[in-house]
Parts: sequence; C-alpha cells; structure tokens
Amino acid sequence: MITKFKNYQELSKFAAGKIVQLVKNKPAAVLCLAGGDTPALTYDIVVEIAMAESVSFAAVTFIGLDEWVGIERAMPGSCYHFLQQKIFDPLHIQQHQVHFFDSGAHDLQKECDRINKSLENAGCLDLALVGIGLNGHIGFNEPGVDPLLKAHVVELDQLTTATGQKYFTTSTALALGITLGMAQILEARNVMLMASGKKKAAIIRKALQEPVSNAVPASLIASHANTLVLLDDEAAAEL
Ligand code: PGA
Repeated sequence: MITKFKNYQELSKFAAGKIVQLVKNKPAAVLCLAGGDTPALTYDIVVEIAMAESVSFAAVTFIGLDEWVGIERAMPGSCYHFLQQKIFDPLHIQQHQVHFFDSGAHDLQKECDRINKSLENAGCLDLALVGIGLNGHIGFNEPGVDPLLKAHVVELDQLTTATGQKYFTTSTALALGITLGMAQILEARNVMLMASGKKKAAIIRKALQEPVSNAVPASLIASHANTLVLLDDEAAAEL
C-alpha cells in the first residue's frame, strides 16, 4: 500500500506514530530501524511521543539493518552511532536489547552468523523501517542481490559509496557493507519503506511502476503484502 504525505514532517509524524503504537500494543516488539537521513525526524518524534506519553521501550529488541565495514561503532557516520544518538540513548535502551553488526570484527562471516542467530532467537521482525538508496538498495542489499540471502557482506555500489560520504565530515574510504538480507526483511510482519525529496522520485517510480526485479531491490519490498510505502509529495512526483 502506498500512502502520500504533503511533506517530510507529515510523513515522519505518521511513521513515528506507527512505531510508538506498535510498541504500546506489543512492548516486546522486535524492531529493525534503518540509519540514514530519511528516518531522522521520525526518530526524534518517536522519542518525543515516548517521553510525553511514558511509553516504555525497555522490552523492545533492536536488530541492526546494516553497517559500513571498517567504520567503528563509535564513529559519527556509522549506522550504530546514528541510532545510538537518535534512539538508543534518548530512550535509555540497554545494550542487551541491541543486536547490531560490529563491522570492525575480525571475522565478518561470524558477525553475520551472530546477527542471523539473534534474529532467529527474537522470532521475527515486527517492523522493519527502511529507506531507499538512489540505486534502489534496501539496507546494503545492492542491485542484483540474491533475494534469498540472509545477513551478508557486500561490495558496495559506486553510487552508495559516493552518496555515503554525506554521513561523514571528512572524505571516508567506503568499500564494503554488512547487511541483513532481503529474505529477513521480507519476513518482517510489517515493513515501512520511506522516501522523501525530489532526488528519490526517479528510483521510487522504478521501484513501484517497473516490473519487480532484484535489479531494484526496493521493488521486492514494495510489492510485499505487508509493506507500507510512505512518500512525501516530492518523492511521489513521478508516479
Ligand atoms: P537516506 O539513505 O535516508 O540518507 O537517503 C537511504 C538509503 O541509502 O538507504
């Protein structure tokens, strides 16, 4: 289902409301929340509502979506650092609640196995909130990804490494990513795919209006029965 909003603020308010409502209904929810610019305001609003309404996130489990390989968790620009600033610290989330890729680990395959196991133990994602890359990626599931993969290490697309510079204050070498696989995201009970701004309009058109294909991983998500596609007017401009 596609829902359009007149602007980024309205889209963010809606997504935040959905997240808080889910946690109210199911305090032990399993959430996978993307990093990136798109959900930033959503997380601020989640924190505002949770504080105003005393909604406890103490029983929630968080599963990481993706991470840049070689970027330490503590480094601004890492997906972990972003979520720590936006969600984990403000909501007083304890470490045991968070299962996130450690991309500085020596053995990345072991990291993938560890996160696969954490997700299996948690059962199933109640919600995956994801953005869309300019190339149609979801997490770091890049164009051409095998949709049956679980967590894996991936050589990043050039567009991803170039666009990714925006998260860092200085030019940063990015080459590999570690990510949950499409199979795991597609198994989520609910997926929210968010896009905002003119720059996303062309890829949103491809993801929603061209034949579903792993060439545009977001098209696999968008066609999924439990997916809500949330767009602001600019991102929906080419539909
Ligand atoms: P963005 O990233 O929200 O910063 O545009 C989206 C993505 O690459 O998945």
